[in-house]
Amino acid sequence: MQQTNRNNAFKKLFYVKQVPKIKEYLEEAVFLKKARADAESLKIPIVDDETGRFLELACYLLKPAKILEIGCGTGYSTYFLLKSILKELASNKSYGGYDSAGESVIGICKALESAEGGICKVNQSAESKAGQSTRGSNKVGNSKTQFSYTGIDLNRKRLDQACLFIGSLIKKTIEPCCDSKRIKTAIETESSRCSFEFIHGNAVEIIQAEQETKEKYDMVFIDAAKYQYPFYLEMVMDKLGIGCAVIADNIFYGGKIFREEILKHDANSVAGIQEYLRMVTKEDAFETSLFNIGDGISLSIYNKDK
Ligand SMILES: C[S@@+](CC[C@H](N)C(=O)[O-])C[C@H]1O[C@@H](n2cnc3c(N)ncnc32)[C@H](O)[C@@H]1O
Repeated sequence: MQQTNRNNAFKKLFYVKQVPKIKEYLEEAVFLKKARADAESLKIPIVDDETGRFLELACYLLKPAKILEIGCGTGYSTYFLLKSILKELASNKSYGGYDSAGESVIGICKALESAEGGICKVNQSAESKAGQSTRGSNKVGNSKTQFSYTGIDLNRKRLDQACLFIGSLIKKTIEPCCDSKRIKTAIETESSRCSFEFIHGNAVEIIQAEQETKEKYDMVFIDAAKYQYPFYLEMVMDKLGIGCAVIADNIFYGGKIFREEILKHDANSVAGIQEYLRMVTKEDAFETSLFNIGDGISLSIYNKDK
């Protein structure tokens, strides 16, 4: 019996070694479990893992070049939004994705490293091998791919934790810049320039203050104060590129949005989500789908210039 168990364990180990993606998956599960436990021990709300996977898949398929996250918290959801760009960076030798032993030096890739020389090496995509990327709308000829992530949060402590967490994954310190509210860094490789910025403050005010900048987002993820969802959307409307995906979390709010009787302390949040859903489903500019994932997710594709 013991011998059979040992044989099975050996077969499993052998299999995992043969298929590095399985090891990557198993190690990531441990990494995420720890990150979730850390957040929960501090009573910090974070997205469900299913929601995280939804974000990961959306980014993997849509390859957004400019992401805005409203309510980044401690960066747990940010990990899923950035996962594909982290892998692209890790596979890029000009970023120093490998140390002299040929192993990844980017945090997450180190953590997910396979038994046979690093998953990042195994996952090196055709596009990064060719020194080009098809990411988002920012590809111009053979010029460098521009990627940018901006996360906003009202809670300074959480924002600082997000900077530490994401900084540890990209092996870079994300530092205050211009004023203490903006914490940013950039990574330049032969084929891409990736910037990561975290802004402390009220998203409504921050986005409003940036109205003059002409840059458009390819993806916006909303996970902040529910009563403000309509305001976030209003503020961001002029900054949505054609095909931009606007994703909102908690749109079922534990089923509360369907109830006739709403508790007083939920009223503003329910009204905010209901109004948001009215906006994204009635506005011609959006094509919206609702997903019964986690606490409910809406995905709205912006398809018309206002
Ligand atoms: C549910 S938590 C976000 C969790 C995060 N997305 C994750 O899954 O890791 C909501 C966050 O929104 C932030 N928030 C609330 N109102 C905000 C506002 N007006 N502007 C920016 N952030 C806000 C809160 O500080 C809080 O950290």
